[in-house]
Amino acid sequence: MRLEDIETICEIEREAFPTPWTSSAFHNELTNNHFAHYLVMELNGEIAGYAGMWLIMDEAHITNIALRTHFRGKKLGERLLMQVQSAAVFLGAERMTLEVRVSNVVAQRLYAKLGFIPAGLRKGYYTDNGEDAIIMWAHLARIAEEGERDTDADKR
Ligand SMILES: CC(C)(COP(=O)(O)OP(=O)(O)OC[C@H]1O[C@@H](n2cnc3c(N)ncnc32)[C@H](O)[C@@H]1OP(=O)(O)O)[C@@H](O)C(=O)NCCC(=O)NCCS
Repeated sequence: MRLEDIETICEIEREAFPTPWTSSAFHNELTNNHFAHYLVMELNGEIAGYAGMWLIMDEAHITNIALRTHFRGKKLGERLLMQVQSAAVFLGAERMTLEVRVSNVVAQRLYAKLGFIPAGLRKGYYTDNGEDAIIMWAHLARIAEEGERDTDADKR
């Protein structure tokens, strides 16, 4: 993600979330936060989605992931999250965590598909409606090993 992407990212953010991040929040992430890594997914020159994480020691914390509404449901979110997981492994992460609304079943299914397991609840985490967050964790090393095994199996 580059500074010139922020305007579009904020449009997607407003499409996706009831309490969207501001452009100054993204600006701060890209210029001041040394833990932050943000990826943009482009399709035919258009930004289709983005995802971010904070990498602290060997743990990656997903901050946000969103696809533009008309790009959802086409396996792009899955590809984007897989890319974020690969980047996290490359940067030395062993585990990845995130929070997801109890009501956001679509995202929960995506996370479960990519190896995330529920590990607890943050009660009343979301300020707009007091909804609880499910905390999920994934073991990236295990995912990377399974990927390698799949690749080896493909070769045979
Ligand atoms: C959550 C989000 C990133 C998923 O991306 P996507 O491109 O729509 O999802 P994909 O097409 O890659 O689907 C991947 C998996 O997600 C789940 N999924 C996607 N759409 C779904 C739907 N309508 N109903 C149920 N599960 C769904 C499925 O498990 C799917 O895998 P499958 O098709 O093999 O079953 C996207 O929908 C989005 O931007 N939502 C709004 C923002 C948001 O909620 N972000 C997460 C905050 S924690």
